[in-house]
Amino acid sequence: MPLVTRVTDLIGRTPLFELAATATGTRLLLKLEQFNPTGAAKIRMAREMVRDAEERGLLKDGGHIIESTSGNTGLGLAVVAAERGYRFTAVVDHHACKDKLRAMQAMGAELVFVADAGDDNLATSAREDHAESMAAARPDAYFTEQHNNDANAVGYYAVAEELLEEVERVDILLSAVGTGGSLFGTATRLRQLGCVPHVIGVEPVGSIAFGGPGGPYWQSGTGTPPGATIGTAVDYSLLDEGVKVSDAAAFATARAVARQLGLMIGGSAGGSVHAALTRLEDFPPGSTVVTIVCDGGEKYLDTVFDDEWMAARDLLDPGLEHEVHQMLDRYTPPARRQPPSHRAPAELSGHRPEPDHLAGQMVQVP
Ligand SMILES: Cc1ncc(COP(=O)(O)O)c(C=O)c1O
Repeated sequence: MPLVTRVTDLIGRTPLFELAATATGTRLLLKLEQFNPTGAAKIRMAREMVRDAEERGLLKDGGHIIESTSGNTGLGLAVVAAERGYRFTAVVDHHACKDKLRAMQAMGAELVFVADAGDDNLATSAREDHAESMAAARPDAYFTEQHNNDANAVGYYAVAEELLEEVERVDILLSAVGTGGSLFGTATRLRQLGCVPHVIGVEPVGSIAFGGPGGPYWQSGTGTPPGATIGTAVDYSLLDEGVKVSDAAAFATARAVARQLGLMIGGSAGGSVHAALTRLEDFPPGSTVVTIVCDGGEKYLDTVFDDEWMAARDLLDPGLEHEVHQMLDRYTPPARRQPPSHRAPAELSGHRPEPDHLAGQMVQVP
């Protein structure tokens, strides 16, 4: 790693992690985007949207960036704005994770809430309308409008380039769809480089980009809630399949991956990993399946990884977590199998104990 002088120099070159492998040689690889500054993929596109606006003369020295964000885009823009001397206003709602909002403020962003305190609903549409009208009223302001900004997808071209430095080809690209930038930007660049993957988009049950009835969901940073407009970054021409994952399954997966492997992935990545694991054996033998882990689990300690928060929303499902553990066991890549002497007796016999409600919790010792 060369010596760097700007935080944005640290973007990219994120690790690729082999999560699972079938007996027929199909591998599930995770592109761990939480290793970017801000702990998320979105900083890639934040930098690109600003670079593009500067190039097109839409953002002048000392100008004002405005964006509607559920958190990670705002974090990325906060870094870029701090580095380049812009003012940045993030239009947010209380559905966003509190730590993301605090971190944006720490880096100098101004927050504008479109909902009252206590209203935890996702308010994508109201946020976007507000950001647009704020920007229209200020001559020095630029609304980055991530849902309809071509630079969003371009920001992820490097993901494809990095992937092809590590693997010969990507057969299946399966990942969460919010604005669509990360999945379709990566798919576009893979195609430009001569690799045409089967593209599977994943959204929460309740999100409307792939049809079906809309409704509330808790997966953060992903999906399109009812009432919100699907932007141009969702490129249906590149989509082979769209699948939906429930909050319970997505969160059970994130929790099981943390527990079994010590790898903290966010809730939306949990959804993608769930979709990939349950389909792994259906893919042609020898397939290379890639999922973009858009952020890490550390951002969700108060939600996905908080049993009380989960239980209060009826999302805690030990049975589902157990199923994910079983899939992770079944698909343990050969390189991760430890010598038997290092393994617990239950694992040796292939038997995993029934979910233990006390496991992983604090127990008072008298
Ligand atoms: C938590 C989270 N989930 C999902 C996504 C995918 O979003 P998009 O389709 O906007 O690239 C992102 C983007 O980085 C994200 O931060």
